[in-house]
Amino acid sequence: MIGFSRDNGELTCDGVPLSAIARKVGTPAYVYSAALIEESFRRFDAAFAPVAHLVCYAAKANSNGTLLAKLAGLGAGADVVSGGELRASLESGFSSDRIVFSGVGKTVAEIRSAVESGLLAINAESEREIEKIEAEAARQGKTARVALRVNPDIDARSHPYISTGRKHNKFGVAIDLAPAIFRKARGFPHVRMTGIQAHIGSQILDPQPLADAARDLARLARDLAAEGHELSTLDVGGGIGLAGPGEKPLTPETYAAAVLPHVAGLPMTVLVEPGRAIVGPAGALVTEVLDVKKSSGKLFVVTDAGMNDLLRPALYGAIHSIESVTENRMPVERVMADVVGPICESSDFFLRDSSIDRPLEGDLMAIRDVGAYGFSMSSNYNFRGRPPEVWVEKGSFRVIRRREHFDDLVRAERE
Ligand SMILES: Cc1ncc(COP(=O)(O)O)c(C=O)c1O
Repeated sequence: MIGFSRDNGELTCDGVPLSAIARKVGTPAYVYSAALIEESFRRFDAAFAPVAHLVCYAAKANSNGTLLAKLAGLGAGADVVSGGELRASLESGFSSDRIVFSGVGKTVAEIRSAVESGLLAINAESEREIEKIEAEAARQGKTARVALRVNPDIDARSHPYISTGRKHNKFGVAIDLAPAIFRKARGFPHVRMTGIQAHIGSQILDPQPLADAARDLARLARDLAAEGHELSTLDVGGGIGLAGPGEKPLTPETYAAAVLPHVAGLPMTVLVEPGRAIVGPAGALVTEVLDVKKSSGKLFVVTDAGMNDLLRPALYGAIHSIESVTENRMPVERVMADVVGPICESSDFFLRDSSIDRPLEGDLMAIRDVGAYGFSMSSNYNFRGRPPEVWVEKGSFRVIRRREHFDDLVRAERE
């Protein structure tokens, strides 16, 4: 059994008890299943096998070097959004011709390293950005491959903070402007317009908006080809969500079945940029209960993990299921409780008014499906060191990023 499952009442990751990991590394701690990451990547890869394709893992979801190296070794490409992610991806083994560089605002230094590296595509977000890429490529005496990010004005029907494909959003250019931009870019000797891209949002469970975006991209690709542009990539972005309780999952297979009919037959490589769907379910945050208290008729379970460790519930109301690591009390009492962190903010909560097994002080709990946008969004707020990351592979575990200590936090102040 890979991923998280119970063995004799003990929650395990790829067969390793989470309590054993917590004993060794302390809490809070992120724990990742290598086998589940591999399985999720392979499912995407297989689902897109009917067409020429490259699954470019969105490194922003989790950019730990061990995880990046694992995906590079499996043959994934990478989608990066900063100079830091670009460097981390190159150092983790992704070859530059399998990396696309997205991001709504790129600095001159980022454009410089993207051009120097010779990436598969720099996903330009505006006409002005193409001019900047041209200038930098001219300076380096190179030709840069550029894809234009278009905004198809499609409602992803997810949280407004993670919807990116409506016309009032800041991302890309309106899709109907693309032909004129491509025509203009013909005059740039150091830019080759090789692709188009769209990413309409994240945490999407309904395949329809994703299929509509693929349809609009395919139509644009045909129009551009009719004008003589030679496209080599069509990038449908990421956004495939994780199902919460009672929700219908959007599997890689269902997603591909929705997208492929629109893009099959086009003479170009289909790029897909999933982040959350590849690493989300493969991670859990193990935390210890610091206090269980009743106040004004409410029960609060206070954990040693806080919003600095896992921001998603505070940032966009993400709901992650929480379960006890060891089922050591029978019968289990179900209670309504808020599970909250120790940070001085009322938004520092993980669950509100939810039914959970009543924990005792000192119990371990696991916050599930936090492999994506968990550690990568963590911070040092309240002067707290960020938690360690633990990698479980083939029945054993190792720390792939140690816990931060006070000295780590003050180093940049004192150097
Ligand atoms: C351009 C782009 N591609 C891919 C992704 C990955 O999205 P997800 O993790 O929802 O698949 C994002 C996320 O914000 C993005 O902005």
